Amino acid sequence: MFGKVVNWIDDRIPMTDTWNKHAGQYPAPKNFNFWYYFGILATIVFVNQILTGIWLTMNYNPSGDGAFASIEYIMRDVEFGWLLRYMHSTGASAFFVVVYLHMFRGLMYGSYQKPRELLWIFGCLIFLALMAEAFMGYLLPWGQMSFWGAQVIISLFGAIPIIGDDLTLWIRGDYVISGATLNRFFALHVIAVPLVLVVLVFLHIVALHHVGSNNPDGIEIKENKDENGWPKDGIPFHPYYTVHDTVAVVVMLILCSIVIFFMPEGGGYFLEAPNFEAANPLKTPDHIAPVWYFTPFYAILRAIPDKLGGVIMMGLAIAMLFLVPWLDRGKVKSIRYRSVWHKLNLTQFVICFIILGVLGTLAPTPGRTLLSQITTLGYFGYFGLLWLYSKNETTKPLPKRVTM
Ligand code: HEM
Repeated sequence: MFGKVVNWIDDRIPMTDTWNKHAGQYPAPKNFNFWYYFGILATIVFVNQILTGIWLTMNYNPSGDGAFASIEYIMRDVEFGWLLRYMHSTGASAFFVVVYLHMFRGLMYGSYQKPRELLWIFGCLIFLALMAEAFMGYLLPWGQMSFWGAQVIISLFGAIPIIGDDLTLWIRGDYVISGATLNRFFALHVIAVPLVLVVLVFLHIVALHHVGSNNPDGIEIKENKDENGWPKDGIPFHPYYTVHDTVAVVVMLILCSIVIFFMPEGGGYFLEAPNFEAANPLKTPDHIAPVWYFTPFYAILRAIPDKLGGVIMMGLAIAMLFLVPWLDRGKVKSIRYRSVWHKLNLTQFVICFIILGVLGTLAPTPGRTLLSQITTLGYFGYFGLLWLYSKNETTKPLPKRVTM
C-alpha cells in the first residue's frame, strides 16, 4: 500500500528523486566535525521561530495602545503563552549564537572560496535579513528598550546626507516612533522578512547541494571518485548525518530548555530589564544598549566620533563579509594547511569581535572608546591583511584524501 502511494506521487512530482538527491544519496564528506552541526541547528531554530511566532501572533495586538498589554496577557492568561514567548525570545538569541558559529566555520575552512562564492553570498544575505528581522521583532513588545532602541537605530539613517531626514520619516511612517511604526514593523516581521528568509535559505541549500559540501580539510571530495562515480570520501547524508546531527539537536534543545525554564531573561542579555516597562516617549532609559547580537556592530558605530562616519563604518563592517571570497586570494581553503599568519589573523579577528561585543553592551568611557577603536582596526585589519598575504602564502601540502 505504502509503495503504491509513493509510486502514485512519484508519477506526478519527483518526490523520491528529490529525497535521494538531497539526502538518501547526497554524498557528504565523511570527515565532518563539530563545526558542521550549526547549519542544521540554524534550520531547527528557524522552524521554532516560525511556529512559536504564528502562535504568538494569534494573541498579540499590534497597536501603540495594546501591544505592551497583549504581551502581559500572553505571559499571564494565554495557556502556555509564557512558554511560547520564552521559546521565541530564547530562539532569537540561539539563532545568532548558531549563525555566528556557522559563519566562523566558513571562515576557518575557507567554505566561501571557489566554487562556493554564491553559497556564501546567500549566507551573508540571510545574515542581513536576520538582523532586520530581529530588529523589527524587538520593537513589538513596545517596552522602553524596544522604543528607545528603535529610536537610536532609526535616527542613524538621519545621518545620511540629503535624503537622511526624509528616509527616517519614511521608515517610521510618522514624525516620531508611533503606532504606525509598530504596525509596519509588525507586518515586516511577521510576513515579509520571514518570506525573504525562507527563499534565501532554500537558495542557500540549492547552492550547497549543487557544488557539494566543503569539509575540515578543504579538499574537494568530488575530484576522487570510485568506478561507480561515488566520491571515495563521501557517505550518504541519510542515514549517517541525520543520525549524527540528531545528537547535536538534542544537546541544543537541552541547553535552550535550561534557558527557557530557569533563566529566560538570560541575565538581562536576552530580555533586557527596561523592556518590562511600557514604552514612554517622555522618559529615556539610563543606558540604551542593543541586544547582545548587535553589540559588536554597535561598538564599531560608536568607535567613530562622527555620526555619519560611524554609520558608514558599521555598514562597511557587514559589507566586508560579502567580499571575503575575493579578498582571500589563497589557493588552500582550510586553516589546517594555511600559514601561521592566517591562523594569527583569524584569532585576532575573533578576539576583536568578542571585545567589540562586550564594549557594545557598556556605557562609553574614554578608555572604552579607545579600546573599541583599536578592536575596530583589528576587525577591518582581518580583511585587509587577508588580501595582502593570501596571494603568496606559504601553505602546507594538501592530503590526497580527507583525514579523520
Ligand atoms: C538561517 C540561517 C542559515 C541556515 C538555516 C543555514 C543552513 C545551512 C545548512 C543546513 C548547511 C549545510 C550544513 C553545514 O554545513 O552546517 C549550510 C552550509 C553553509 N552555510 Fe549556511 N545557513 C544559514 C546562514 C548562513 C550564513 C549567515 C552564512 C555566511 C555568511 C552561511 C554560510 C554557509 C556556508 C559557506 C556553508 C557551506 C559550508 C561547507 O560546506 O563547509 N550560512 N548552511
